[in-house]
Amino acid sequence: TPVLASTREELAGLLADARRSGEKVAFVPTMGALHDGHASLMRAARAVTSGPLVVSIFVNPMQFGAGEDLDRYPRTLDADLAVCASEGVDVVFAPSVEEMYPGGFSHESVHDGVTVAPGAIAGILDGASRPGHFDGVLTVVAKLFGLVRPDVAVFGQKDYQQLVLVRRMVRDLCLGIDVVGAETVREPDGLALSSRNRYLDPEGRRAAVALSRALRAAQGRAAYGVPAARWAAMAVLKAEAGLELDYLALTSPDLGEPPETGEGRILVAARVGTTRLIDNMAITFD
Ligand code: PAJ
Repeated sequence: TPVLASTREELAGLLADARRSGEKVAFVPTMGALHDGHASLMRAARAVTSGPLVVSIFVNPMQFGAGEDLDRYPRTLDADLAVCASEGVDVVFAPSVEEMYPGGFSHESVHDGVTVAPGAIAGILDGASRPGHFDGVLTVVAKLFGLVRPDVAVFGQKDYQQLVLVRRMVRDLCLGIDVVGAETVREPDGLALSSRNRYLDPEGRRAAVALSRALRAAQGRAAYGVPAARWAAMAVLKAEAGLELDYLALTSPDLGEPPETGEGRILVAARVGTTRLIDNMAITFD
């Protein structure tokens, strides 16, 4: 069973011996409400080191906008610890907001301390709908990296823009951490696992599957080029009345313009009732 640390000091103490012995430290940051998507990241992390595997559970207020679901975000620590135990996690770091933001935190006054400026990629897609979101994500990830000082960190492709930005931060700020991007884990019908899926009522759950169906439809038309792929996805999304589209984007793997041929990415975000869902897949144009 993992050891639970709730302060930076406890965490440092737990990792000190491993660091002295030169073992590789692997890290999976999460906001808890753990599901099999998170578990798959832990398995990927466990596979790269026999040294300490650290999972953090912290609902980071800085990445939630005013009016978003910070207050109703699910908090299930006991169940989360059971998931971590069954995946061979050594240390669970579950700090309080005060522990992570000792200078205090409110949506209006984040910037009286040093934060990470995520650059232009944070202004598109999810960043356009959620201003400041990626400032909050990269700032907390940088802080967690500083506390855990991992050799390897595993993130899910489910949050693709986040993965791209974390890679950029590690590269641009020379953090020297190996970032692994793990495949999205899905329900049998294709819906990407998400902590927010539990907000969906049965009708919303049925509508939600249109996201992955649309992406697969686009993949099926990708041989005919970007406009054809886009049209195929839009046809699926428009046919689902229970879904309010935020964006459908076809891009290069690093979120630039889509290539005429070769590897690209297709990303979608939509609201189902009050719940905002995202999904994305690799797509190959040829
Ligand atoms: P959270 O939403 O809890 O996700 C934690 C990690 O699990 C992320 O890397 C995310 O991409 C991954 N994940 C979520 N659903 C997945 C799925 N169905 N398949 C594979 N991986 C999945 O992302 C965050 O938390 C936060 O922004 C965080 C990075 C912890 C910073 O606060």
